[in-house]
Amino acid sequence: MEKVNVTLDERSYLITIAKGLFDSAVLTSLFKPKQRAMIVTNETIAPLYLQQVSNALKQYDIDVDQVILADGEKYKSLDTVNTIYSVLLKNHHGRDTTLIALGGGVIGDMTGFAAATYQRGVRFIQLPTTLLSQVDSSVGGKTGVNHHLGKNMIGAFYQPASVIIDINCLKTLPKKEFCSGLAEVIKYGIILDEVFFCWLEQNIGKLMALETDALAYCIRRCCELKALIVAKDEHEHDARALLNLGHTFGHAIETKMGYGNWLHGEAVAAGIVMAAELSRLLGKLTTNEFERIKRLLQCANLPIIGPKEMNPNDYLPYMLRDKKVLNGQLRLIIPTTIGKSVVKSTINHDIILTAIENCMSKWRI
Ligand SMILES: NC(=O)c1ccc[n+]([C@@H]2O[C@H](COP(=O)([O-])OP(=O)(O)OC[C@H]3O[C@@H](n4cnc5c(N)ncnc54)[C@H](O)[C@@H]3O)[C@@H](O)[C@H]2O)c1
Ligand SMILES: [Zn+2]
Repeated sequence: MEKVNVTLDERSYLITIAKGLFDSAVLTSLFKPKQRAMIVTNETIAPLYLQQVSNALKQYDIDVDQVILADGEKYKSLDTVNTIYSVLLKNHHGRDTTLIALGGGVIGDMTGFAAATYQRGVRFIQLPTTLLSQVDSSVGGKTGVNHHLGKNMIGAFYQPASVIIDINCLKTLPKKEFCSGLAEVIKYGIILDEVFFCWLEQNIGKLMALETDALAYCIRRCCELKALIVAKDEHEHDARALLNLGHTFGHAIETKMGYGNWLHGEAVAAGIVMAAELSRLLGKLTTNEFERIKRLLQCANLPIIGPKEMNPNDYLPYMLRDKKVLNGQLRLIIPTTIGKSVVKSTINHDIILTAIENCMSKWRI
């Protein structure tokens, strides 16, 4: 069993990673008999894991309710959070209840926000079921929903009381979703940890084959790296921005192509290659390092060029609309070598355009 501590004073918590945790003492030990809880999940995950989690809690004499939401990013809204509030109120849940998020990032973000706001805050536990949510969204306390005028525009920083990662559930996750999560995994290696990047180069085959030990180590290392960053910068003033490598380019792809057509991780993968090419043009990353990044993404079945439907000129207008733009200046994350990266806000737009152009035509890269 792998464990990671997220150190945030009185908001500190433990992440536990292993096979078969959803009906284990790791979960039930967070409760006392007769306590109340509500599991929030969706219609895809409910038939797979809800009964297992719910039975484990009931056997421990926890008074557990559930709410099963529609599946999809388009339901990550205040309306759906309102459904969660209604079920809590109808069932007379008080401030001593616990919300349990059973699902990917969409369920985690919404449940966290509902927990942050229901009766001014109740305890919440994350049971993340996608690779992306296990290595990224369940750790760090960002919760929220979309507004029709912008993604993740309504939210709160609210830390979970515990994160329990059951590796078994990756077996039912569609392969495309799994690979999308690998983009975030590879991102950690590039921005923060050369040794981990080398480990990934050697073990990507084992990860793709869902080998337990490799997965457990990989998820633990990503959680450790995210925990370090979050401990330094809980509310995203500086260090946390490094986690956005590839995301500003990726955001342009997601927005232009329509959310859902390119998965988040796929857009981020193409964006990472663009950021790496930009770094190479700026004389930081060597061509060899650039090639290694591309190769690793390809081994994870991720795209390394942007969508053929987009022209290089399509990117900048979307990138300038990103939340990370400060005083009209784009702030991009640039890997300076594998394992180190910086935030840069004074890059000439022509060079950015050249980097994008170079990553659009297959023969150039
Ligand atoms: N809070 C943060 O720090 C943070 C960070 C990154 C992303 N996010 C958010 O996370 C969301 C994306 O999360 P995601 O990639 O997990 O997507 P998701 O939650 O939409 O899950 C992807 C799909 O996989 C299904 N699924 C989940 N687990 C499964 C399993 N074990 N077996 C079979 N199917 C399963 C889901 O029902 C869904 O259809 C976005 O809304 C994004 O904004 C938040
Ligand atoms: Zn991301």
